[in-house]
Amino acid sequence: MDLYEYQAKDLFAAHGVPVLPGRTVETADDAAAAAAELGTAVVVKAQVKTGGRGKAGGVKLAQDPDEAREKADAILGLDIKGHTVHRVLVTTASDIVEEYYFSFLLDRSNRTFLAMASAEGGMEIEQLAVERPDALARVAIDPIAGVDRAMAADIVARAKFPAVIADQAADVIVKLWQTFVAEDATLVEVNPLVRDPQDKIIALDGKVTLDENAGFRHPEHAALVDERTENPLEAKAKAKNLNYVKLDGGQVGIIGNGAGLVMSTLDVVAYAGERHGGVKPANFLDIGGGASAQVMADGLDVILGDPDVHSVFVNVFGGITACDAVATGIVEALQILGDSASKPLVVRLDGNNVIEGRRILDEANHPLVTQVDTMDNAADKAAELAAASSQGA
Ligand SMILES: Nc1ncnc2c1ncn2[C@@H]1O[C@H](COP(=O)(O)OP(=O)(O)O)[C@@H](O)[C@H]1O
Ligand SMILES: [Mg+2]
Repeated sequence: MDLYEYQAKDLFAAHGVPVLPGRTVETADDAAAAAAELGTAVVVKAQVKTGGRGKAGGVKLAQDPDEAREKADAILGLDIKGHTVHRVLVTTASDIVEEYYFSFLLDRSNRTFLAMASAEGGMEIEQLAVERPDALARVAIDPIAGVDRAMAADIVARAKFPAVIADQAADVIVKLWQTFVAEDATLVEVNPLVRDPQDKIIALDGKVTLDENAGFRHPEHAALVDERTENPLEAKAKAKNLNYVKLDGGQVGIIGNGAGLVMSTLDVVAYAGERHGGVKPANFLDIGGGASAQVMADGLDVILGDPDVHSVFVNVFGGITACDAVATGIVEALQILGDSASKPLVVRLDGNNVIEGRRILDEANHPLVTQVDTMDNAADKAAELAAASSQGA
């Protein structure tokens, strides 16, 4: 789960990372009140979960409350890379002498954590990595040893942070590591980390991604979820304990049991889709081991609720839950859903008790269901049906 800047900085503050005071508001009048309360020049900042807000006109300086109202009025409702601004952070304006970059992240390809730091902040990190790779220090972090003061000092030296702030920067890096670990984050990024005229280091921006798999350790993180921007289908799936993921630009809904099978189903559908005008998976849902009728109904309900879906591919390999139970699940699920199930379903069953499973589906003879025996042919059928339906639409 990605956090808003204000939420990220609240976590920073809780772990002793220096941030500026501020208030998050939803109206221009409240922005003026927040500026009056702060009693300083302020910066009004769009709270949307995307970077580059500054360039998009979502970060504006205001000298007094009236100007804060004006700037908030201009920013609220703005569309920044597809994200509508519902809230702004009104925060003390800082004089900036220099901007730096710092982050901790999960480095999946190297199976470790990584610190990235640069004395040349301000730029988007992707751009910095391409244009000035030498200016970006990348330091692997041993997850067991973590980041102590000496390690932090080493990162500071490699990033070539200036000597006047080296100690402070090391201190902040240790605290950011503590934030990363204590909150179970997969990303903690500060861009920019700034030096003010008093040579004080402050985190002016913050980006944090929390690991939802560790959510059970953090009941307090539930309060950080923003229902307004959460995808309603993802919320529905989460409420039913289903692993649902929306994909961009596809037409075939995918339901499978087990992560490995689901991943390979995505590949097979994308491959088959090339023969049908570039049809792709629209989403996927892993119903896991126990595909009861209710789980199948919940899964189909979510998948069919995605307006991008033109056909559904149900790909199940019967194991502990045998194919006959899955087939019964599908038949009952279609009864439960009734008219709300309106898109063609291609079902491929294999594995434990497959003959009985296929017989149950044949016997039910549901008009929306096509059975195909192999994964490749089923993917092809699902892609074909999706292509036909999207052309008709
Ligand atoms: N409180 C602040 N005081 C002064 N300048 C700020 C403040 N917050 C942000 N800025 C300036 O605006 C730029 C963009 O803000 P930032 O929070 O990094 O948003 P984004 O990364 O989405 O563009 C910063 O690099 C900094 O120069
Ligand atoms: Mg930034």
